[in-house]
Amino acid sequence: MNHPIRPIAESEFPAALDLLDEAFVSSWAPGQIERFKGVTEFDRSLAAFDGDRMVGFTQVMSFDMTVPGGVLPVAGVSSVGVLASHRRRGVLSSLMRRQLADVHAKGEVFAALYASEAAIYGRYGYGRAVDNVFYTIPKHSSAFRADAPADPALRLRIEPPERAREDFVRLFDKVRPTRPGLYSRTAARWDATLADDENARGSAGRLRCVLAEDDDGVRGYALFRVKRAVTDHDVPDGEVLLQELFAVDPAAYAALWRSLLDRDLCSRVFAANRPLDDPVMHLLAEPRHLNAGTLDELWIRLVDVPGALTQRAYSAPVELVVEVDDDVCPWNAGRWRLSTAKQTCERTEDAPDLSLPVRILGAAYLGGRSLESYRLAGQIAEHREGAVRELSAAMSWSPLPWGGLVF
Ligand SMILES: CC(C)(COP(=O)(O)OP(=O)(O)OC[C@H]1O[C@@H](n2cnc3c(N)ncnc32)[C@H](O)[C@@H]1OP(=O)(O)O)[C@@H](O)C(=O)NCCC(=O)NCCS
Repeated sequence: MNHPIRPIAESEFPAALDLLDEAFVSSWAPGQIERFKGVTEFDRSLAAFDGDRMVGFTQVMSFDMTVPGGVLPVAGVSSVGVLASHRRRGVLSSLMRRQLADVHAKGEVFAALYASEAAIYGRYGYGRAVDNVFYTIPKHSSAFRADAPADPALRLRIEPPERAREDFVRLFDKVRPTRPGLYSRTAARWDATLADDENARGSAGRLRCVLAEDDDGVRGYALFRVKRAVTDHDVPDGEVLLQELFAVDPAAYAALWRSLLDRDLCSRVFAANRPLDDPVMHLLAEPRHLNAGTLDELWIRLVDVPGALTQRAYSAPVELVVEVDDDVCPWNAGRWRLSTAKQTCERTEDAPDLSLPVRILGAAYLGGRSLESYRLAGQIAEHREGAVRELSAAMSWSPLPWGGLVF
């Protein structure tokens, strides 16, 4: 092998930082380095070397991720970079193959990542499983429908976020099992989520929060920043930048959104990453004023096809033979009989009902991607009429998947 690959020692962390700094053309701020170190698992961090020089890097972060009907360990792939001097020589391909073999050996049945560019990871069997939506909602067009939920028992509480950390953790852990894609946060991940140094602030202000609660406790929270601005005519023109908003019931959810949309001295809310089925679209009296756009979010790779398919729930019963094409993880390749009634997925030589690449199974795994749309794009071969629609309906899920926080 041209570029040997091995896990790095903690003492090699500075070299990995230098490499990622080059690969992403970014510079590390001091606080950022400590936070990044806090979420790094050295025994799951792989580097490729040219002699003594580290030329490629990737790591796995261990999470529990919600899937339809349950919660499973997932390999969260992150920090992928190759030095510009060594690009397009197969370093990434070698790292990806080694990493997937390691994940398989560890027994995690799937891997997840956020991609810097959507064209990179399909060749390694990752499928575009989640899309998110971003909004810019002008305050002057943000009226809610008259029947929007309201609860007089709810109060809003404003706190510096560091004082409400325990409330965020409790609330988030209540919401996490309810939506596929949401994943567990360690203390170090919360440190990174609540980071508020100059680097984290960028051109916006400090991190702020609002909580919705009643006498029994917290029912939701929003984390946000406010970018102060005025127009040429000195009219206040600030912008609320929403970082995250979670609530356990509709009234708390509506109260938090209302609080953000009504901020004094601000004329709009920008929410960068929300789930595609975000209920706010049903609250606005004129939903066109969401000014929504979409982007790919989580990419999913089934590392153990039968293990993954038998450990999620299905929306409809199905029994069929799926033929999987997977040259990167050949143990997945071949024909599998999936029976949701028996909750089994067994190797078979029977004729397949449909054939597809493993990346498309990954795309549908969390329940947010229609297999039928891939068939219509000519990417699934259907051998029995209606088979793709059956599997598509069985794998679909509500609510739609969403990771929420980039790792
Ligand atoms: C993306 C990156 C990791 C690729 O590394 P690399 O070692 O050059 O990749 P490889 O040589 O192994 O390329 C493997 C294949 O992927 C393709 N590929 C690599 N980067 C690509 C990109 N950005 N867009 C489209 N295709 C890409 C190559 O053309 C090659 O295709 P082939 O197998 O058909 O010949 C590297 O360019 C990089 O560090 N980029 C900046 C940081 C970044 O975006 N990282 C990803 C974070 S999610």
